[in-house]
Amino acid sequence: MYKVDSMDMFKALWGLPEQCQDAWRLGMESPLPQAAAVSNVLVTGLGGSAIGGDLLRVYSSGKMSVPVAVNRDYLLPEYVDESTLIFAISYSGNTEETLSAYEEARRRGASIMALTTGGKLKQMAERDGVPVLEIPGGLAPRAATGYLFLPMLAVLQRMGLLQGVEGEIDELVRCLQEIRESLKPESPLESNLAKQLARNLHNRIPVIWGASGTTEVVAQRFKGQINENTKAPAYWNVFPELNHNELVGFEVPKELLEKLHVVILKDAGDHPRVKIRMDITKGIVAKVVSGVNEIKSSGEGMLARIYSLIYTGDYTSVYLATMYGVDPGPVKIIDYLKTELAGR
Ligand code: F6R
Repeated sequence: MYKVDSMDMFKALWGLPEQCQDAWRLGMESPLPQAAAVSNVLVTGLGGSAIGGDLLRVYSSGKMSVPVAVNRDYLLPEYVDESTLIFAISYSGNTEETLSAYEEARRRGASIMALTTGGKLKQMAERDGVPVLEIPGGLAPRAATGYLFLPMLAVLQRMGLLQGVEGEIDELVRCLQEIRESLKPESPLESNLAKQLARNLHNRIPVIWGASGTTEVVAQRFKGQINENTKAPAYWNVFPELNHNELVGFEVPKELLEKLHVVILKDAGDHPRVKIRMDITKGIVAKVVSGVNEIKSSGEGMLARIYSLIYTGDYTSVYLATMYGVDPGPVKIIDYLKTELAGR
């Protein structure tokens, strides 16, 4: 397994708990954005640098009095103004959509904080006197999910917009340190949930279902990790919405439906009616797809619960890559696209 892993994705996965700890520390020590009154928060970024924004949106929705939105585009929504706090996030610091959105945020007079390892974003922010939260380089952006999310929580807490995150960080780190013992490559199939999931998803199309407000971003991330690490297709959706459309599409064609494998993500915070919906839905699709797995989050706080599922999904996608003989690290298609775009 380690042999086909040219970018040390397994090593990066193993280091996630300590990354989370370090990410929180960096956020607690960073300069703060100049913001008088914040009426909304916007995270702008793409791919692995945007998903932290989605995690922030879901995590903060029951805890913060101002809304959080995520922008994955060159342009910004019309409402962005001086009262908007913007986190411009790019791991490389060179993603053109993010640089364009950053310039637009400057024109609108928004309070900005750049979160990056360097690149043009860092240069531009330094030129403009915009605070830079510099995170360590050397990882694939999608392997830096701790660095690309948790510093924002620390900054928002220090700005008085969020409270009580600290205790959750300790629990998160402990919980991930515990889980990795069973997820690591040395842990055998019988006790390794990620290996079991990878075995079930092998030669199947994964369909990952989460729930709005709890595991929705985990489902999206799990799907993205299978795309980027395994280089395979995967799809995601959320309860209760999928009960109103996607579920109807499980009648025909039978021979294609048999190639699907459904994973349902479960969390203690799921709405009681959603829990019932999951059970009924499982009964319906189990008859036509190759199989259904339910995986439950562990831990008490929302951060531990969400990351426990992210961790399992991440490991699963890397095991699945090795089962196909694929190197999980390089994303040649994304690199090709970026090079092509730079030349035009
Ligand atoms: C690669 C990855 C991508 C990048 C995206 C944006 O591991 O996850 O989704 O995150 O292409 O690049 P950055 O993060 O450098 O702004």
